[in-house]
Amino acid sequence: MPSAPRFAALRNEIAGVSVEALAREFGTPTYVYDAAKIVERISDLKAFDTVRYAQKACSNIAILDLVRRNGAVVDAVSAGEIQRAIAAGYPVTGDPPPIVYTADIFDREALDLVLAHGLHVNCGSPDMISQLGEIAPGREITLRINPGFGHGHSQKTNTGGEQSKHGIWHDQLQQCLRAADQHGLGVTGLHMHIGSGSDMEHLASVCNAMEAAAREVGRTLKSISAGGGLPIPYREGETYVDIGAYFELWDATRKRLEDAFGHKVGLEIEPGRYLIAESGYLVAQIRAIKRSGANTFYLLDAGFNNLARPILYGAYHHMSLVPCGEGGPTRQMHEVVVGGPLCESGDIFTQEEGGFVRSRMLPVAEVGEYLVIECAGAYGSVMSSNYNSKPFAAEVLVEGGSPHLIRRRQTFEDLVAGETIPER
Ligand code: LLP
Repeated sequence: MPSAPRFAALRNEIAGVSVEALAREFGTPTYVYDAAKIVERISDLKAFDTVRYAQKACSNIAILDLVRRNGAVVDAVSAGEIQRAIAAGYPVTGDPPPIVYTADIFDREALDLVLAHGLHVNCGSPDMISQLGEIAPGREITLRINPGFGHGHSQKTNTGGEQSKHGIWHDQLQQCLRAADQHGLGVTGLHMHIGSGSDMEHLASVCNAMEAAAREVGRTLKSISAGGGLPIPYREGETYVDIGAYFELWDATRKRLEDAFGHKVGLEIEPGRYLIAESGYLVAQIRAIKRSGANTFYLLDAGFNNLARPILYGAYHHMSLVPCGEGGPTRQMHEVVVGGPLCESGDIFTQEEGGFVRSRMLPVAEVGEYLVIECAGAYGSVMSSNYNSKPFAAEVLVEGGSPHLIRRRQTFEDLVAGETIPER
């Protein structure tokens, strides 16, 4: 288990490369990813038979390629994510399936790709079973079960219980097994994911629910998936969950099922955040410093168009200053509110759930200096928008000490591509 991270107030480099140099070369705002951290996090989980990366957390094809080169397979929740996985070099079929389509519905595009490539499907609704079975009988499928409880870092990321739209409700399993049978689909996998950014106590409670459901499915079962949901330390004092202990719980569950079925049962884990969050840094420039009443504001060139987690969930992200201005490397600390450039008062990085603006102790800074928003790799860039006609940030991957541009900043032409003024 990695030791608890330290969060410093000042930062000069990311993965050994000067932040100032990165900002000069690629501009700001830019997402910078440290490849070594991703590789390390994949290897933390190597006790599991299969690590399936939930690419929704960060789906840049260079990141998928890195994940693939380091032995993890991938989850896809849309036609676009299927195409990204293929573009990053994942084969479409294999054992375990290199790409699994996990969703609660089929849209036309996803269903076409699933059929064309023979992709494995994790069905999150009874309708998916019948829709697939009617066109493609004889396949193996996984069922995603909602065990009746869930937990996430926010109510918006809780994916279990009866308020959640996700998965097949646990008491409908028999009915779904019969439907699969009628359509000639073999249920070979079971999957449960109770929420994102959960904790050990809630995650551990899934094992019993999985065992009960697996016994209902019986001997056709070849693999079980623990889903994702592993939290990461976002702030000083927070620690990692004990991955070894978590694996032991799942391994014991799997072994009891192997004894019952008389054959091997594969054990998967499906993390997004755990693999990518800490590798990602959003580098922004302080463009204005102003005071309103008792509050001092640092206004950045990055906003919730780049990182939506604070406005959506009141999520906390550590921030560090790159002390490259005239103030030199030693700085006093003071209370500041950090906001972005958008024409909306909710464009504040230092807010709590409910939109309450909070100040934070940060180093005294000058306009033109850079602020690094940390642990931003998961659900950062992928949740960007073009609100206020702001382009998507550039993305840079630092691997082996060298920065590689893996997505150029959007241009105005990108922003309006596809828009047309009707002829009159
Ligand atoms: N598997 C399934 C079926 C999922 O729905 C998710 C996340 C994962 C795996 C990966 O969960 P993770 O290991 O990353 O916790 N935008 C939110 C998180 C939404 C998660 C959606 N599903 C955030 O920024 O916190």
